[in-house]
Amino acid sequence: PSLEKEFLPMYFGWFLSKRSSEILRKAGQAFLDELGSLKAFKKESKYFPSAIEDPKIKIDLTSYFVKRPPGVLHCTTKYTEFGKAAGAEEYAQQEAVKASYGKAFTLSISALFITTKTVGARIELSEQQLQLWPGDADKILPTDNLPRGSRAHITLGCANGVEAVQTGLDLLEFVKLEKAGNKGEQVGEIGGGKLLYFDNGMWMLVLSKKIAVRAIFSGYYG
Ligand code: 2AM
Repeated sequence: PSLEKEFLPMYFGWFLSKRSSEILRKAGQAFLDELGSLKAFKKESKYFPSAIEDPKIKIDLTSYFVKRPPGVLHCTTKYTEFGKAAGAEEYAQQEAVKASYGKAFTLSISALFITTKTVGARIELSEQQLQLWPGDADKILPTDNLPRGSRAHITLGCANGVEAVQTGLDLLEFVKLEKAGNKGEQVGEIGGGKLLYFDNGMWMLVLSKKIAVRAIFSGYYG
């Protein structure tokens, strides 16, 4: 009898391969470098005050987003807080979650974005991948009604004093603007795609060629 009670991870998610993590980190780095030297961005650099050295030369976004995830990158599906989070047990017991645990997936990155708080990669989930997406994740306010999977992202970096949970909330802000009909101002084409500005220091690079990353669905125990 007395088997140990199974305990839940801090979070479930897709954990990128080392190689895919490196590819995505590099793409993120190239995006920050290019954005920081762009005239249109420098004009709006007041939103990133601590990154301004000489605004004529370059805004240093790499040192602005100083908190970067160590090791392999991941996309959180459900933050279960070792079982304490609302809906944690229900999520862990779903057939799709149990059947997918330890399985390999290919995730599709459709855009890279920055706000004054975070830099991240936007993920377009397939129907199959959406089965692992919790029903309660795509909201900032309880009344928000956004498409399932709207929040799916990979955190690439956070500004000083900002926690990683913010990246998904920032992505939801973009989606809310899109839903309200704001498609952003098209600033031009930069390496990799079409650059959009949504004001208030919110920039999104819509990739002309989506980045496919390999990832294992699993749990992180800390
Ligand atoms: P992220 O998914 O945006 O990177 C450990 O803190 C991981 O769990 C981080 O990757 C973090 O954000 C995510 N996380 C932390 N708190 C969370 C929450 N309340 N809801 C969803 N994800 C959370």
